Amino acid sequence: MSIPPKNALVIGKQGQVALALRATQPQNIKTDYRGRAQLDIRQPDAIHKLLRQKPFDLVINASGYTQVDLAETQHSEADALNHLSVKQLAISCAEHNIRLIHLSTDYVFDGKQDQPYRPDDVPHPINAYGQTKLAGEQALTRYHPKNSTIIRSAWLYSPFGNNFVKTMLKLMNSRSEINVIADQQGSPTSAIELAQFIWQISLQDTTSPRYHWSDIGVTSWFEFAKQIQTCAIEEGLLNKEVNIKPISSQDYNAAATRPQFSALDCQHSYCLRQAKRWQTNLKDVMKTIKNNEET
Ligand SMILES: NC(=O)c1ccc[n+]([C@@H]2O[C@H](COP(=O)([O-])OP(=O)(O)OC[C@H]3O[C@@H](n4cnc5c(N)ncnc54)[C@H](OP(=O)(O)O)[C@@H]3O)[C@@H](O)[C@H]2O)c1
Repeated sequence: MSIPPKNALVIGKQGQVALALRATQPQNIKTDYRGRAQLDIRQPDAIHKLLRQKPFDLVINASGYTQVDLAETQHSEADALNHLSVKQLAISCAEHNIRLIHLSTDYVFDGKQDQPYRPDDVPHPINAYGQTKLAGEQALTRYHPKNSTIIRSAWLYSPFGNNFVKTMLKLMNSRSEINVIADQQGSPTSAIELAQFIWQISLQDTTSPRYHWSDIGVTSWFEFAKQIQTCAIEEGLLNKEVNIKPISSQDYNAAATRPQFSALDCQHSYCLRQAKRWQTNLKDVMKTIKNNEET
């Protein structure tokens, strides 16, 4: 059994996962949250310098270039953060013998499978974001194989930052009709639940290099939007029904192609931490959004 970490560095401060990590942080781990203003991990020496100065025994990389469509035209910006910075981070953490937990995505898979992807299934990304995230994973495995863990997650929502749930709430409150993609399936995932799993992994002696974590259940963006509407009306976050129209990915015509089916097989992770259905977590998140509005 290894010694639990005492001093953690979380890379990312105002991002969705960073805020969820802060909201769920174990009291016995002193944690320093650094976003791009405090630590620009694209600067080659920045990480190395910080790890030399401070006695961190755990680094959680919650940073990333996450704009999936923009990554198609800004490939080098996405690669700089999702791949080259991760390589540098892996090299520095290996040199200082620091445990590194890194976040990745369901978009490393091509979506052609008809059953949830397992951690050891072969990735094959179909968009630039997925390619840069996979390159980051590969750098981590190559440069810090002994003490690093990749956690892949998907379709994150929370009361924090920008996400599908918050976008839907805004649109539903301002329009009478919205179009939502119905031919992509995945697992909506509470960032709060993901954060709790990350903290759990950080306290655990793990032998697996990769974990998958999502809420339980598989659905489409269209069905997810309908459930958001139902919950929003129940919680008083929306006072009328809007017409939600199912459309195809082709009609939506986003810059980046998304996998049609990117559900993650999380059985291995669920042995370590009990998960809940996405509808249950969605209700909890909606309640928090409602409470935040009232205070
Ligand atoms: N969102 C999803 O649905 C989803 C799904 C699967 C996996 N993931 C992965 O989860 C991780 C976090 O995603 P997220 O949704 O929390 O993303 P996010 O909300 O877009 O946050 C991105 C974070 O990256 C930090 N960052 C950006 N540029 C940086 C730089 N140069 N140096 C240091 N930090 C920098 C930001 O710092 P500031 O705090 O200063 O803004 C922010 O905290 C990413 O690796 C992403 O690929 C996300």
